[in-house]
Amino acid sequence: MNSFLDIHKTDPAALRSMIDTAHAMKIARNGRPKGMPDDDQPLAGRMVALIFEKPSTRTRVSFDLGVRQMGGQTMVLSGKEMQLGHGETIADTARVLSRYVDLIMIRTFEEATLLEMAEYASVPVINGLTNRTHPCQIMADVMTYEEHRGPIAGRKVVWCGDGNNVCASFLHAAGQFGFDFTFTGPETLDPEPGFVGFAREKGRSVRIERDPVAAVTGADLVVTDTWVSMHDPESAKERRHNQLRPYQVNEALMAHAKPDALFMHCLPAHRNDEATSAVMDGPHSVIFDEAENRLHAQKAVMRWCLGV
Ligand code: CP
Ligand code: NVA
Repeated sequence: MNSFLDIHKTDPAALRSMIDTAHAMKIARNGRPKGMPDDDQPLAGRMVALIFEKPSTRTRVSFDLGVRQMGGQTMVLSGKEMQLGHGETIADTARVLSRYVDLIMIRTFEEATLLEMAEYASVPVINGLTNRTHPCQIMADVMTYEEHRGPIAGRKVVWCGDGNNVCASFLHAAGQFGFDFTFTGPETLDPEPGFVGFAREKGRSVRIERDPVAAVTGADLVVTDTWVSMHDPESAKERRHNQLRPYQVNEALMAHAKPDALFMHCLPAHRNDEATSAVMDGPHSVIFDEAENRLHAQKAVMRWCLGV
C-alpha cells in the first residue's frame, strides 16, 4: 500500500512506471466513449473517497471518472459538510474513513492536514493539491510533454510568474525526472528554497532569472499558472497583478522559446492575465491535453497506490 503525497517522496522508478502505465492505459482506451469501462477493471469492488476543502473542476471530474472507468465507485465529499469542518480531528476522520473506503484523495489547505490524514489512515492517501504542492498535476504534465515531444529528461522547462504550489511540484519533478528548470518572476514570489534545493541536490540546473526574455530563450516548455491561488488572500490581488504583469506569457515572449516549444497551464486560467488567449489557443499550447491527461495519469497513480 502506497500513499501518493508528493513527487519528491516517491521513488523515481515508481514515478516512471506510473507515467508508462498512464500512456498505455490512454492508448488502450483507443478513443472509446468516456463512460465505457476499461477492458480490465482493477478497481472492481473498491470504494474511493474524494474530499474537497477547496473548489475543483478537473481534479474532481477526472478522479471520479477514472475510478468509474476502472470499475470502482466514488463518494465525493465536501470538507465543509463533513464533521472535519466542525472540529472532528483529521486523525479521527482518517481512522473512520479507513473503515469504509479503500483509498482517500484529499484537496486541502495546509500540508499538515494531508500528512496527518496519511499518518492515521490505514488506506492510501493521494494529494489532490495543498497550499504547497500539486503532484497529480505534474504527473499529467510530464505525461503530456512526453506524449508530444518524447523524454522530458534533459529538457529546459521555464516557469513564469508565481512560485506557487504547482511550481513547487515542477521543481520536485525536475529532480525526479531529470530536467532543468528556470524560474522567472519577482523575488517576493520565488519558490521556497527547499523546493529549489531538492532539484539541485538531484543534480539538476535550477536558474532564478528576473528577466523573462532571458529566461524563456531556448525553452522546450513554458509554463505558467494563475497569479492568485485559491489560498492567497483576495487583498493580495492588485499588488500581485502589478508585480506579475511583466511575466505574462504572450506571443512576444513565446517567440524567444524554441520553435517547437510547448506551452502549459494547469488551468483554471485567467485569460489575458498570466497568459494571453493567443498563446493559450495558439500552436504551442497543449493545455487541454494536460487537462485530459489528469484522468490517465491519476488512474495510474491510483493503481500504484492500491497495487492493482
Ligand atoms: N488543475 C486543477 O487542479 O484544476 P481544478 O482546480 O479544476 O481541479
Ligand atoms: N495554484 C493554483 C492551482 C489550481 C489548480 C491554486 O492553488 O489555486
